[in-house]
Amino acid sequence: MRKVKSIVFLSGNGSNFQNIIDNIKSGFLHIEILSVVSNNKNAYGLERAKKEKIKTIMVNSDNDYNNVTEYIITNSVDIVILAGYMKILPKSFVNKHIGKILNIHPSLLPKYKGLNTHSRAIKDKEKYHGASVHFVTPDLDNGPVIIQGKVEIKNSDTKDILEEKIHKIEHEIYPLAIKWLSEKFIKQENDKCLFNNEVLTTPIEHI
Ligand code: GRF
Repeated sequence: MRKVKSIVFLSGNGSNFQNIIDNIKSGFLHIEILSVVSNNKNAYGLERAKKEKIKTIMVNSDNDYNNVTEYIITNSVDIVILAGYMKILPKSFVNKHIGKILNIHPSLLPKYKGLNTHSRAIKDKEKYHGASVHFVTPDLDNGPVIIQGKVEIKNSDTKDILEEKIHKIEHEIYPLAIKWLSEKFIKQENDKCLFNNEVLTTPIEHI
């Protein structure tokens, strides 16, 4: 059977990327990662890619994104996985690959789109915080949410403690969503996510 082909975009540490690799190695995910794309030459995730002998591609200009589009088409890439990609993708790029792009965001969307989600949740004295995997649309952090994982915010939680808890949840939910997309259990239809051809009215809650 043909393996589902993916590419991963990252800008930083790449723990989610590493976790995807580990899930491929363990046999949970039947996908291959053709390349890692980054806007940051110092991203530790690029070191991880080199260690795994995965090709790396740097992007900066609109033209670079056009080259990635060409790469996606030429190599029949099925899934574009954003794993800590800190740059907003050009709308034209997103529009060309709608339905294929997944992102993981460190909040219970639609709450706390954008940056610094952990400190904002603590500052607002939220009882819960979490992570969401969603399809990417041209509107930032606004695409249909597939799955969410939740944690309780304790009084003693600092930003760093909360970040660690959220990473743990991310490492559980992202492989699930990637598996579902790679095995065609889910698909994006406009601003909705379909699961087994039924519209998800609320995101799947990971327990
Ligand atoms: C994660 O918290 C993810 O939700 C956000 O960026 C962070 C990336 O972490 N989009 P890592 O580089 O995968 O460790």
